[in-house]
Amino acid sequence: MPIERTLTIIKPDAVAARHIGDIIKIFEANQFTIVAARLVHLTKEEAEGFYAVHRGKGFFESLTRFMSSGSALVMVLEGENAIARLREVMGATNPAHAAPGTLRKIYAESIERNAVHGSDAPDTAAYEIGYFFPGIELV
Ligand code: CMP
Repeated sequence: MPIERTLTIIKPDAVAARHIGDIIKIFEANQFTIVAARLVHLTKEEAEGFYAVHRGKGFFESLTRFMSSGSALVMVLEGENAIARLREVMGATNPAHAAPGTLRKIYAESIERNAVHGSDAPDTAAYEIGYFFPGIELV
């Protein structure tokens, strides 16, 4: 299996609820290595740039307001098959549909305030890593 890098965000809901430590513990228990990390408070414009692919959708305005409402922890995780595996560990976008034991089942408040983000494919991982960590070496 390929060693990959993926971008994750511990979102403002989970940071405010003091779940950073518990979520990182789960990442590490699942054999992800943190290779970069930044605690950020995004501006509305930065959140809009990050989620540009969702511009025009009904939830875009609310999502970008939420993502710029408080601190978020942005990290690059590395590991075997990291992109798909992180999405399994996170669970479905909507916590109502997330499998038991997944991060979103445990920590998400709603489909929008869903605790964590993870890149969904190699091309989006490359874009998202570059968005927050310009110049970082990609695998
Ligand atoms: P994320 O994995 O970060 O990718 C896009 C985000 O938009 C998603 O998690 C949710 O936070 C949010 N989102 C996706 N679908 C909806 C929806 N139907 N209603 C509200 N927010 C959504």
